[in-house]
Amino acid sequence: MSVTANSLTACALEKISLFITKRYGLEFRQHRQELLWQAVQERMQACTVSSTEQYLRLLQQGKEEVLLLINLLTIHETYFFREPAHFAIIRKQIIPRLAKSSGPKPFFRLLSAGCSTGEEAYSLAMTLLTIPGTGIDWDFEIIGVDVDTKAIHKAQAGLYGSYSFRSCSREIQNNCFERLSKDCFLIKRQVKEKVRFEALNLFEQVYPDWLQNLDIVFYRNVSIYFSREQQQDIFHRLTGLLKPEGCLFLSCTETLYHHNKHMILVNSGDAFYYQKTAATLPSVAIAKSSQYSVCTQPPPAYVPPQKKRPLTRIPRKLLSPLITTTNPKPCLNTDDCCQLFNTALILIKSKKRTEALQCVDQLLSADSQFIQAYTLKANILLGQQQLTAAIKLCKTALVLEPFCLEAYLLLGMAAKLDNRFDDALQHFKEAVYVTPECWLAHFYLAEIYQFCSEIAYAKREYEVTSKLLKQGNFDNHGLSFFDMPFQLNDFLQLCQYNLEKLQN
Ligand SMILES: C[S@@+](CC[C@H](N)C(=O)[O-])C[C@H]1O[C@@H](n2cnc3c(N)ncnc32)[C@H](O)[C@@H]1O
Repeated sequence: MSVTANSLTACALEKISLFITKRYGLEFRQHRQELLWQAVQERMQACTVSSTEQYLRLLQQGKEEVLLLINLLTIHETYFFREPAHFAIIRKQIIPRLAKSSGPKPFFRLLSAGCSTGEEAYSLAMTLLTIPGTGIDWDFEIIGVDVDTKAIHKAQAGLYGSYSFRSCSREIQNNCFERLSKDCFLIKRQVKEKVRFEALNLFEQVYPDWLQNLDIVFYRNVSIYFSREQQQDIFHRLTGLLKPEGCLFLSCTETLYHHNKHMILVNSGDAFYYQKTAATLPSVAIAKSSQYSVCTQPPPAYVPPQKKRPLTRIPRKLLSPLITTTNPKPCLNTDDCCQLFNTALILIKSKKRTEALQCVDQLLSADSQFIQAYTLKANILLGQQQLTAAIKLCKTALVLEPFCLEAYLLLGMAAKLDNRFDDALQHFKEAVYVTPECWLAHFYLAEIYQFCSEIAYAKREYEVTSKLLKQGNFDNHGLSFFDMPFQLNDFLQLCQYNLEKLQN
């Protein structure tokens, strides 16, 4: 191919990539560009189109071809009872609670958003069918939606190979499926009739009216390729579909950007989920017919989470004029604040804690939104055993930044020092929820479980800690202002020693 032809292809491919990202949220950075290129080539061949520009024009002409391309670009990995803790929470906690608090014979509606080939939606149906009272005291329906029409057709067919059952008990598989051949299982009618599947692009600004008034939404493993703004946007729209106090589940790896003021994060013990506050949500438009219509109100503007400020290291000699013990300057600019912060760090390193605290106080009176100043001060106070003051600072940090890992870690450490083990467990679990690879949180969890003789949990947490450390996460412990007093090998040996002890 000539240079000109090559650059034309690249240009058209870029346009196709933008077109798909804008309409469907899928992004194509790095290795995913290759996936896009392969899918485009496959479709070009199927349409007998010889140039990428021609194919781009085809895409722009009609929705049908776009959907066929999308079918090649989406990732469908799924299986029955993926993340089993979520189904246990629904069975043991959420449905019994909803059944109790609703009127006579309530009808629950659950959504699997991004349902792929249907395993998640059917798992929900199988879960609800085993809860006492189903069909008598209350009833339910499950809706599965996905942008991929091919996946929807597979879901509707309800035929599965054994790989889909890798997290499903033999008992459920035998009760709910008919074996048609060695590797082919058909979902039974009683389960199937509880679930309906529809094609839907979650990027549509307005969702159809049959999606209103949901009790539970599963939106797991879908948003990974969406940008932060797009993730927020969909999360907000899904929140709008929930009834007050309805619940939304994400996979344990998709958390950070899913947050809005209408949802509270609930730690149920084994997993987290979001629950909608009792107050109703304003301004999420719902189409009045089952056809999509143009949204009259735009979704609320996305407010990005507060960014961490850059911490610039500056030479010590430049710092002294900024440290004052007199009245704080009422208003410092961002650079001054960063300098003050760095000064505090240097002072701590040279063990001048009183001066460091003065510095942080000066900074906070100039800028009460400087989150790291709260956690830094909490760190110092924790070292001085001033637990109540440290806890208060962490809570303030969390008001400003609900996903502040350091605040959760410090709260856990404070609770542990105070022998409040339940609270400590809760905070370290929150830390893990915010940053699953935070080995320090896992290590503390292991220690507390061991102390409380929860042997199996302790072993699991030591194993996770070891694994994360071996993967090279040592420096990502989550306490950003201090170096670890021990080396990587010390922690690894400690984990090994405790694992052997627990084994015996
Ligand atoms: C990895 S699967 C997740 C399946 C299931 N939720 C689970 O956790 O096992 C992701 C699914 O999201 C779907 N998806 C991606 N973008 C979507 C969009 N804009 N609207 C609806 N579904 C989408 C894909 O087609 C794919 O089937």
